[in-house]
Amino acid sequence: MKFFLDSADINEIKKTLDYGVLDGVTTNPSLIREAFEKEKSKGKNINFDSYIGDILKLCKGKPVSLEVISRDYKNMVREGETLYKKFNKIAKNVFVKVPVNPCLDLKCSSNMDGIKVIKKLSDKKIPVNCTLIFTPEQALLAAKAGARFVSPFVGRIDDYLRETAHMKFEKRDYFPEEGWKNGKKTLEDNGIVSGVMLIKEISEIFKKQKVQSEILAASIRNTRQIREVALAGADIATIPFNVFDKIASHLKTAEGMKKFTKDIVPEYARMLGTKIEK
Ligand code: G3P
Repeated sequence: MKFFLDSADINEIKKTLDYGVLDGVTTNPSLIREAFEKEKSKGKNINFDSYIGDILKLCKGKPVSLEVISRDYKNMVREGETLYKKFNKIAKNVFVKVPVNPCLDLKCSSNMDGIKVIKKLSDKKIPVNCTLIFTPEQALLAAKAGARFVSPFVGRIDDYLRETAHMKFEKRDYFPEEGWKNGKKTLEDNGIVSGVMLIKEISEIFKKQKVQSEILAASIRNTRQIREVALAGADIATIPFNVFDKIASHLKTAEGMKKFTKDIVPEYARMLGTKIEK
């Protein structure tokens, strides 16, 4: 499974690239807003083009998703083409992110403009990452339209299930793959009982139907979800910086390090020219 960083913060991107295990970056309007507000709070002026250009240069050879912001076919196509034309020449790594359904109506009016945009951009060989996926059928449709990545939102479907049951929870709280029992009934959204199950179903369908699009698990909230989406068949997980930074940690790892460090004999340290702080 590939590890992407879910961030538009150039400092977080630099730090994560330095780990040597980063495969790509995903941004969205909220992440860009967060990153820009941070820079502005330090008194820095931001030039959109050069900020994004710097990210793309840093990530050469790794896909970077940039999202369209309109909600109608014509403007989303225009924006997708603009993003690609303006930025892909910098490092040839732009993916245009398109919502599966751009409708703002919470009653979920059906709107196929997202799908039409994916088809149009994909036919023009512009790689598309289809975002805001909450059902396997949305994923299948986006893949059929040509999306190279489909992005199911793992954490947000878990939020939705808990919200509909009026449960109290924190953003990083663990939510089990097998779902949550409310009395005798398991919470579900049209058969989906958790974000991880959503990934698993999409993965099974894509295998059975021989779909080539990659499954990019988004809205990851904790390190355990990384393991679970990997087991469920995600090709990519896009991980926020504060979760990425915790992947290597375990109490027993630190305890083991303490003991090994304490036990180093002077001959060992001398041979390596190392000064040990115990
Ligand atoms: O990649 C999608 C992601 O940015 C959404 O994450 O935690 O706001 O649901 P979250």
